[in-house]
Amino acid sequence: MNVLILTGAGISAESGIPTFRDANGLWEGHAVEEVATPQGFARNPDLVHEFYNQRRRALLNPEIQPNAAHVALADFEREHLENGRGDFFLVTQNIDNLHQRAGSQNVLAMHGQLLQVRCLYSEEIFDWTGDLSVDTPHPEDPDNDSMRGCLRPNVVWFGEMPIGLTQIEKAATKADLFIAIGTSGVVYPAAGIVAQTPPHCRRIEVNLDDTPASSAFDETIRGAASVEIPKLLNHFSAM
Ligand code: OAD
Repeated sequence: MNVLILTGAGISAESGIPTFRDANGLWEGHAVEEVATPQGFARNPDLVHEFYNQRRRALLNPEIQPNAAHVALADFEREHLENGRGDFFLVTQNIDNLHQRAGSQNVLAMHGQLLQVRCLYSEEIFDWTGDLSVDTPHPEDPDNDSMRGCLRPNVVWFGEMPIGLTQIEKAATKADLFIAIGTSGVVYPAAGIVAQTPPHCRRIEVNLDDTPASSAFDETIRGAASVEIPKLLNHFSAM
């Protein structure tokens, strides 16, 4: 059985990371266009850096840990692969690193990662846990003043191309089981993955509420991810 998982902000909500849409279209008090678009960054890089600095610091707070849903997905994957039961691929829209910290191996962070930065010139990616500003030197050329401020968060902003779309489409077209967890199903192309799965694929949505995408699924489970995902994966663990 080939398994494809899509996760969204809802899976990390119980770890203490706020979701997007629960804040009425604002993202921690900011309009999305201000802090999550290339135009917003060009207009006010200080604001955008500060916004991501705050989120990076929050993610590094020791109280933020993977929850039972992240752990269940990592355990399921390990067992699924060890027993040769098929492929397993996890696509997350989240920029936190909680899946990776829980032990998930085949994770694609389609909207980028908060603990990475990217050089605006070379596109080179660096792991990053500190703050970033318009004065931050390039890590490989720290004495070159003309390279100061050339780093940006390695996250996908609105209007930019998500990461790994070809890989995602490939995994979707051969999926036997597709589970979407804690995503509002309104941001494309992630919301369109369910439509790329083949007719025989079993499609399950796990969310606290109905979403605009619910009707595309065969089953919808209403509940908290940390409770429902361990139960659901237990059901599929021998398949
Ligand atoms: P949203 O904030 O849009 O949606 C979170 C979903 O999780 C909602 O449908 C909630 O009902 C659900 N939810 C909340 N807590 C839950 C829990 N404990 N268990 C299960 N479900 C729960 O987040 P995303 O769908 O991830 O994009 O948002 C998609 C994208 O929009 C993000 O990746 C980001 C954002 O703007 C970019 O930054 C490019």
